[in-house]
Amino acid sequence: MNILVAGGAGYIGTHTCVSLIEAGHEVIVVDNLSNSKLEAVKRVERITKHKIKFYEIDLCSYEDSKIVFEENKIDGIIHFAGLKAVAESVKMPLEYYKNNLDSTFTLIRLMREYNVKNLVFSSSATVYGTPEELPLKESSKVGGTTNPYGTTKLFIERILQDVYNADNSFNIALLRYFNPIGAHPSGLIGEDPNGIPNNLVPYVTQVAIGKRPYLNVTGNDYDTPDGTGVRDYIHVCDLAYGHVLAINKLLTNSGLVIYNLGTGKGSSVLEVVNAFSKAVGRDIPYKIAPRRPGDIAECYCDPTKAYEELGFKAKYNIDDCARDSWNWQSKNPNGYEE
Ligand code: NAD
Ligand code: UFG
Repeated sequence: MNILVAGGAGYIGTHTCVSLIEAGHEVIVVDNLSNSKLEAVKRVERITKHKIKFYEIDLCSYEDSKIVFEENKIDGIIHFAGLKAVAESVKMPLEYYKNNLDSTFTLIRLMREYNVKNLVFSSSATVYGTPEELPLKESSKVGGTTNPYGTTKLFIERILQDVYNADNSFNIALLRYFNPIGAHPSGLIGEDPNGIPNNLVPYVTQVAIGKRPYLNVTGNDYDTPDGTGVRDYIHVCDLAYGHVLAINKLLTNSGLVIYNLGTGKGSSVLEVVNAFSKAVGRDIPYKIAPRRPGDIAECYCDPTKAYEELGFKAKYNIDDCARDSWNWQSKNPNGYEE
């Protein structure tokens, strides 16, 4: 199958390209490199020993994006392209709504024009807002997002449901990722955030490599076993493989399907810090800091539906994630910059 990977130069996109190529698919990457580097795509080529067709295009531009559909017969699309920094989205809501929605509109419009029926969309656990029940099931209530980034995911899910209701010939998978971490075991690709990392794991690896003096543990007074926030951390290679399974599902004429992609197991911030201390071979220094505004105490999923309907099951645990994140960070202290 020819799979267009929109945002395929990014963190999850590169790992998914590896999985897709290993599963025998051809990938066509479209990315405007607004949050990634071309080197990441070259590294995917190195891992897979496979040439990748790459287009540096902003998916908000219909005219530019049309070229990709003119030049290729596309069987399915995985749509990773979007801005994703929660705090930035609070400061720049219009940029977030514009980029994330426009890129989606372009893809749907072109899918209709070129008769492409299969779409996987990168959604997020953030659509559940503050969980009303745990573990989160696909049927759990969505809404109550606390930032524009999360609201773009909620809106796009809704838009895609309406698109499907209007035309049942589409097959659409909404994949709600929990917390992707880790890196490809080769150490050639991984997460390469710009500036000061917002998320826990890239911050921890930058502390481990000596770029930052200590981690701020943002809150130790939550109603959790050790007081720190609990999340469902999933290895990015497990997540990537989930996309291969989702594409297979769409090819059975699935209609619109929704899956949580997580492990089903929550880990606290201190458990993550311990896993990294083991992987790195020394203690990760940390200080207790105030809670981050908008943070929730706990978030983890029930992964049963993805297991039963896709055959998806995470095979890596938090120690594997820490080992592979550290392998990537220590081999690439400055990310993709030489
Ligand atoms: P990323 O920033 O590494 O990758 C996104 C890619 O999309 C980048 O390479 C960026 O350059 C590209 N892009 C953005 N806007 C574009 C546009 N208009 N046209 C073309 N390319 C564009 O992010 P990621 O962590 O790989 O996340 C991928 C997707 O998964 C995103 O949609 C994100 O919101 C979603 N997601 C991520 C997480 C997470 O924690 N990483 C969790 C849940 C959902
Ligand atoms: N944390 C710290 N110190 C830090 C950063 C984070 O203690 O420097 C804590 C947070 O308080 C939280 C946990 O680590 O308890 C995880 O925080 P992340 O920022 O890594 O992840 P979030 O769960 O807050 O959010 C991430 C993405 C969202 C996405 C969500 C679910 O940023 O976009 O996962 O997929 F929606």
